[in-house]
Amino acid sequence: MRVLLIGQGAREHCIAEALNCELYSFMKTRNPGIMKLSKEYTVSELDLDKLGKFAKKINPDFAVIGPEGPLEKGVVDHLKSLDIECFGPTKDLARIETSKAFTRRLMEKYKIEGTPEFRIFSDMEGIEEYMRDINDFVVKPDGLTGGKGVKVFGEHLKSIEEALEYSKEVLSKHDSVIVEERLEGEEFSLQCISDGKHLEATVPVQDHKRAYEDDQGPNTGGMGSYSMEDHLLPFLKKRDVEEAEKITKKVMESLYKETGEYYIGVLYGGFILTKKGVKLLEYNARFGDPEVMNILPILKNNFADVCLDAINHELSGIEFEKKATVCKYVVPKGYPVNPVPGKIEIPETDAKVYYASVDLREDGLYMTRSRAAAFVGIADNIEGAEKIAQKAVEKVKGNVFYRKDIGTKRLLRKRVEHIKSLM
Ligand code: GLY
Repeated sequence: MRVLLIGQGAREHCIAEALNCELYSFMKTRNPGIMKLSKEYTVSELDLDKLGKFAKKINPDFAVIGPEGPLEKGVVDHLKSLDIECFGPTKDLARIETSKAFTRRLMEKYKIEGTPEFRIFSDMEGIEEYMRDINDFVVKPDGLTGGKGVKVFGEHLKSIEEALEYSKEVLSKHDSVIVEERLEGEEFSLQCISDGKHLEATVPVQDHKRAYEDDQGPNTGGMGSYSMEDHLLPFLKKRDVEEAEKITKKVMESLYKETGEYYIGVLYGGFILTKKGVKLLEYNARFGDPEVMNILPILKNNFADVCLDAINHELSGIEFEKKATVCKYVVPKGYPVNPVPGKIEIPETDAKVYYASVDLREDGLYMTRSRAAAFVGIADNIEGAEKIAQKAVEKVKGNVFYRKDIGTKRLLRKRVEHIKSLM
């Protein structure tokens, strides 16, 4: 199979490896891992015309779109207009990620469980009353913000005045702002594959958004993640995962009813287990970064076959090895507030390595200003997987840091105790 991959991060490096095909890549920066796996690649800013010409020249069996930016830009619509099939939703369907208001309205209209209390505002009218009414809330912009737009009352927003100020700022950049009930619990990611008619859930994963150990410090794109050999999480029961899958299946069906189009690609639900059950925080229209690195390396199928089955609405039988995985990101010192770019050396270890924001120059590998590389340990149990990932990050040379605590028994116990304290 000939496949065109769009994107340049560690997520796309991991997808490239799992595709196991004749690979062609279109990326913004020179990811050394994707370059090595590709028969041919183009390095360019995303330009629909340029991408279309590259795609026509290759004539792939299909294209896989990694990040959300190209989905919002309508890459799938453009490639489809050139008769190139895509694993990834059209711009209209990608609203499930690009518009939080669309998702909340859809879930409300089709009476899908797991929706917290919310209201959508297109101006400031009534917003203060609603905030005072629900008391404990979060403020979400209606649009893509690179994971940095959601602000929590009492944490990022210290007073109602600050929350109103932030809402005004959001409304100056986006069509609307969502105020919703703040939920207390443990978050987990369930990345599902959809062909529009059938849905296959993958393995639940827990990401770590905060920069520093013990969940301290600023939010990041994700410092690392883990999955368990039993395909649950220490604080999750089978019925919780089934509930998240049921919600996602209803969302997939509602998307068809609403738009008349079948959703082909990833429906990644960011869920939270609360004392009132499983609730949906948000959907993403692509794999998670880092969460994809916990699932594709243990996928038993060739991912290219899975994509083709999804495109043909024949999705079934996706299987994963009963292994635990721990992913740890190495990032430049100062990340995410004031990252210091610089040289990085990555020795061979037992962990899988996926390159992210690095630049391969004549005299070696350089970090840019974001997460540099992800290291994934895979083993029969979480202790083994954590050891492999930790040993690998310790060997990296450069002005870097990482979170030692991801995947450790101590942190897992803390998650379980947190859930117990809420029930
Ligand atoms: N890990 C969060 C995301 O991919 O959006």
